[in-house]
Amino acid sequence: MLAVSGLSKSFGGVFAVREVSVDVPAGQTRGLIGPNGAGKSTLFNLVAGLLRPDAGSVSLDGRPLTGMPAHRRAAAGIAIVFQGARTFPGLSCVENVMVGAHTQARHGFVAAALRLPACRREERSVRSAALVALERVGLREWADVPASSLPLGQQRRAQLARALCASPRLLLLDEPAAGLRAAERTALAEVLEELRSEGLTMMLVEHDVGFVSRLADEVTVLDLGSVIASGPPAAVRSDPAVVKAYLGDGSHA
Ligand SMILES: Nc1ncnc2c1ncn2[C@@H]1O[C@H](COP(=O)(O)OP(=O)(O)O)[C@@H](O)[C@H]1O
Ligand SMILES: [Mg+2]
Repeated sequence: MLAVSGLSKSFGGVFAVREVSVDVPAGQTRGLIGPNGAGKSTLFNLVAGLLRPDAGSVSLDGRPLTGMPAHRRAAAGIAIVFQGARTFPGLSCVENVMVGAHTQARHGFVAAALRLPACRREERSVRSAALVALERVGLREWADVPASSLPLGQQRRAQLARALCASPRLLLLDEPAAGLRAAERTALAEVLEELRSEGLTMMLVEHDVGFVSRLADEVTVLDLGSVIASGPPAAVRSDPAVVKAYLGDGSHA
């Protein structure tokens, strides 16, 4: 489904992503691990169209995305949960999720400001889609609670619901479990397992190798912008290059 080929991006002459090629088949969950600064978030931004590559290509279902801006990639089915994602303060949980439905909303802000009937109907349907997304992440009962009053784990799941509301075909998750307590991690893993069993294609960046191994069909390891290993979780974990670059440094053990 996702084909990344020879992708490179440098900042000030230093490669953040260097000739990276990754293929993710439909329905697969791909783990993406690597030390801080390895280029994981940059790779996601290149796939989502938030950064322009210096070289290489990205395609979705065989369709090249080169030059396609982020909002069109979102409409084509690429959704992203950003690293350190926070909810919008002052909005309820369901309103936060409704923000994610904008790629499908047809009526502009003038119609919205005038509260035209078609627009009100659309708002109702966006709201019901947002409630379905909240249900999928186990937050239905918190729909009308201010999102910022929720614990971090629930805010992360609200961000996940926001991404799901756009009906993605490919979901990019950048460290969704970072900073969560054990019970919150488990709740998130269960939701992601459910999405995986529904056949959603995902890429998951996460430092907790146990968390990644539980969810990923295959794991790709980045170090200094380059892919140093790729394969089933158990094989990658015992790869000497991975142990040296990442697992062996003790900081993520
Ligand atoms: N917008 C940017 N401007 C300059 N350097 C950047 C920018 N974004 C990322 N980098 C650099 O690119 C490298 C990869 O960063 P990043 O993709 O955030 O790594 P990771 O997500 O694996 O921790 C780092 O050296 C980082 O400092
Ligand atoms: Mg990052």
